[in-house]
Amino acid sequence: MEEEKENQQVTIGNAKVNVVHPSIFNVVKQRQRIKEKLSGIKHKIGVYSAKGGVGKTTVAVNLAFTLKEMGYKVGLLDADIDCPNLHLFLDIKQAREPEYPLKPIEKEGVKVISTAMFVDEAKRPIIWRGPMVAKMLAEFLEATEWGELDYLILDCSPGTSDSNLSIMQLLEMDGFVIVTTPQHIAAINAIRSGMMAKRLGVAVLGVVENMSDGSTSGGKEVSDALKCQFLGAVKSSQNFNRLSDSGKIPVSEDSEIKEEFISMTKKLISGGD
Ligand SMILES: Nc1ncnc2c1ncn2[C@@H]1O[C@H](COP(=O)(O)OP(=O)(O)OP(=O)(O)O)[C@@H](O)[C@H]1O
Ligand SMILES: [Mg+2]
Repeated sequence: MEEEKENQQVTIGNAKVNVVHPSIFNVVKQRQRIKEKLSGIKHKIGVYSAKGGVGKTTVAVNLAFTLKEMGYKVGLLDADIDCPNLHLFLDIKQAREPEYPLKPIEKEGVKVISTAMFVDEAKRPIIWRGPMVAKMLAEFLEATEWGELDYLILDCSPGTSDSNLSIMQLLEMDGFVIVTTPQHIAAINAIRSGMMAKRLGVAVLGVVENMSDGSTSGGKEVSDALKCQFLGAVKSSQNFNRLSDSGKIPVSEDSEIKEEFISMTKKLISGGD
């Protein structure tokens, strides 16, 4: 019986996966449940890089609010389960008891959910081992009532394990936007992230160079390596940092930042046509 299972293949997204352990069937079943639960969402896009601090949350927030300004119904999921930041960028303070199904809160027309909303003290660290992080993420995906959305944007954690692996395995994604900075080391880690997605059969939709000095060499290095479109650059700006730090949405406050994001978002949703 075990031998028979080992010879089977199952389809996860676009990838054929050899069954090496019976638990893969649980993943397939969970994926099916999540697919049904999220059937009202047209597009799911993750914002990702294996490297920390490059601007994943920044890009996710501003992408979501740009899409909202373009007239779409948008949700934002903090997929950084153990070190959530989204609420800080959005000045969401209230902690509450989790009531099932979980309901996102609405911030200026965008639906938002984060583990931080269910932890009473913002500075308290959430210390979990990998399997608990993956379990919590799966629970979040299964338990949240998003309703109808055009776009769900996922703010991913750094790294190439646990929660990001779960996202790739459990969700039927449109794909990922990969974020890098101009630095070669950031580019190498961004390439690594895109390679991981591709290996698991998830598309890389484009690359953003954040904290750009104008040269765009980091972003182009990544988009060339991943054979995907370069969406554009976001300049390093003190105003950006100041607005984010004070819980304001940069694209709603600064016309230059807004233009950068409108151009990148149009490229992203048109697939570069
Ligand atoms: N273009 C920019 N100009 C100036 N500051 C920026 C810019 N982009 C991001 N920052 C600042 O850099 C810091 C890191 O950004 P952010 O939290 O978005 O990175 P991250 O990749 O999500 O980090 P983590 O890996 O911890 O999740 C934040 O303080 C943010 O305000
Ligand atoms: Mg982040």
